[in-house]
Amino acid sequence: MPMISARAAIQKLQSGDIVAIPTETVYGLAGSIASRPAIEKIFRTKERPYFDPLIVHVIDLNSADHLVSAKPKIMQELAKEFWPGPLTLILDKTSHVDDLITSGLPRVALRSPQHPIAQEILRSTGPLAAPSANKFTKTSPTNAQHVLDEFGDVVDVVDGGPCQVGLESTVVGLDSGYLEILRPGRILAEDLLPFAQKHHLEIRSASAKASPGQHAQHYQPAVPLVMVQRAMSENSLREVVAQQIQKEFTLKYLQLPADPVLAARLFYAELRKLAEDSTAVIVADPSRWSWSGDTADLMDRLKRAARLVIH
Ligand code: TXA
Ligand code: MG
Repeated sequence: MPMISARAAIQKLQSGDIVAIPTETVYGLAGSIASRPAIEKIFRTKERPYFDPLIVHVIDLNSADHLVSAKPKIMQELAKEFWPGPLTLILDKTSHVDDLITSGLPRVALRSPQHPIAQEILRSTGPLAAPSANKFTKTSPTNAQHVLDEFGDVVDVVDGGPCQVGLESTVVGLDSGYLEILRPGRILAEDLLPFAQKHHLEIRSASAKASPGQHAQHYQPAVPLVMVQRAMSENSLREVVAQQIQKEFTLKYLQLPADPVLAARLFYAELRKLAEDSTAVIVADPSRWSWSGDTADLMDRLKRAARLVIH
């Protein structure tokens, strides 16, 4: 049975197996950091290359003392403010973190998820490595059915309902004088700013090199997605699609709410729905949604999910 209880998940995790668990951002494919076979199985199941490091999930920063060699004051303050929640902190690791988890990098990514089921499981299992529960480069799962659609009978999943945040956590690290955003998320730059200012740090977006998982092709739906970034008629759009993607297609416009919080919550599920029609070419035109505020996270996911961006 692919749907299992939190209790059964705890047993599986304790015996070195992997399970998909709900978090408030996206579902994660979890395994104990103490089990090398479990970590290997995560990479294998996701078909994820070993150069793409995993986030380690913990109940709180104190429980991660043995995993990190230092806890800079600003990171402690960020954890106090935003944990449990959709923020991942990059910290110097100790030898208690397997190099396989960090892809040989000297730092480890830590996050305390807010979902009550994730917390219940973590309290019993201890730290869990968990990337999003999707195949490498594909759309992230925001409900239990998405995980089953992705992995079938191969992965057991604990159903925790639809994810409330809907996009992966904001990932931040420190780099001489900067608080770097390695991946934008729903914890916005403006939320981080008072903490950075207090410590005389500037906020900047990190280069792709700093975050090996941030490759250009990511989050891709099963059918092509075209992102439109300038005003153009549907006819000229059809011409471009016919020339550059495929001859026969059904154009499907991605519809998202104007409120970025709701848009983030629905984003991956809407992509999956549209991709059920195998003839579909999905069109994402952000100007239609009249988003206001910081939507760096949504724009980042859209650009990476896109087969083609029309500037
Ligand atoms: O919201 C989330 O963060 C979800 C849920 C399940 O917690 N997890 C998630 O994991 O998105 P994943 O594996 O799909 O993305 C993790 C990304 C990596 O691709 C990489 O960019 C960055 O986090 N990362 C992990 N460890 C790192 C490290 N040591 N140094 C730099 N970047 C790291
Ligand atoms: Mg992912």
